[in-house]
Amino acid sequence: MTRLSAITPSGHAHIGNHLGAIRRWAREGGPGDLYFVSDLHAMTVSYNPTRLRKLSRELLAVLVAAGIAPDRVFVQSDLVRELGALSWLLECACSFGEASRMTQFKQKAEGQGVVRLGLLTYPVLMAADILLQRATEVPVGHDQTQHVELARSLARRFNSTYGEVFAVPRAVVAPMASRVMDLSDPSRKMSKSTQGAAGTVFVLDDPDLVRRKIRSAVTDGDARLEYRVAEQPGLANLLEILAGCTGKSPVELAESFDSYGAVKEAVAEALIEELRPLRARALSLLADPAELDAVRAAGAALARSRSEHTLASALRMAGVG
Ligand code: TYM
Repeated sequence: MTRLSAITPSGHAHIGNHLGAIRRWAREGGPGDLYFVSDLHAMTVSYNPTRLRKLSRELLAVLVAAGIAPDRVFVQSDLVRELGALSWLLECACSFGEASRMTQFKQKAEGQGVVRLGLLTYPVLMAADILLQRATEVPVGHDQTQHVELARSLARRFNSTYGEVFAVPRAVVAPMASRVMDLSDPSRKMSKSTQGAAGTVFVLDDPDLVRRKIRSAVTDGDARLEYRVAEQPGLANLLEILAGCTGKSPVELAESFDSYGAVKEAVAEALIEELRPLRARALSLLADPAELDAVRAAGAALARSRSEHTLASALRMAGVG
């Protein structure tokens, strides 16, 4: 089995990324797994190149600090040639209709004056990420499952049209904290790119800031302390975050509190403890550029060498290269 997943440096990593994805990657990681910073994916909307480079470094440090083996991480653009080639093969196996049906494309395209073509084709690049490494399991949060489904369809289609090359991947979603919501608007997913960070707890936020953000989380005017996602989404979100940190169920947790204030204090404490070691290790890695450069170079070399055979086979089967 090969697990593979990634995080896009479109902003700082937040607790949704951590609880729903990164932490699992570190815990479940096996010797054949690969995790990476998908910097090419951050180019689908307007961005600042200097900030992108800085965020890519930061996220690489976060992946290692979270406990993923340093030789299992890489930065996507270090494989830009291989991925560019495979993306083209897969774009030619993907229909326009399929790509334009992606929910995330429709959502993200809505607010943009100019919609970059890359925003439409980015799930195909994501399929290339997955198929290039012959990944079989893709551990992701809820929002990415449709993209993994597309990768699955493209793998099957390519294999049946040109011959067996790709492993057919499947998405694996965490049972808890797979959809952490914004603290100031629990109807919206917590996101790296939300303007104004009051509702987003970043993994590198200092403990005081974490506490302040949790204290100011929107809760529902209802005095009942129950886990009811539709009726009390703010409280449900806090209970899910706490469940993600403690391993207990949100229903059981709801019964153990007698006030919203107490829930918030418990969530803040649990998060601060959850993030403490990660934050310390990430900051020390970021202060040691040579170590981070070495991790990046070794990860790229391994990922590239693993991909050579699959890319060469796919090109040959498709009648090119
Ligand atoms: P990205 O950077 O948006 O998110 C990284 C991971 O975090 C999960 N996630 C969340 N989980 C719980 N609650 C949230 N609020 C939340 N927000 C994000 C995501 O589901 C994801 O698992 N396109 C991908 C990166 C990617 C990728 C890949 C993933 C590029 N190539 C190949 C898998 C395989 C992305 O932008 O994730």
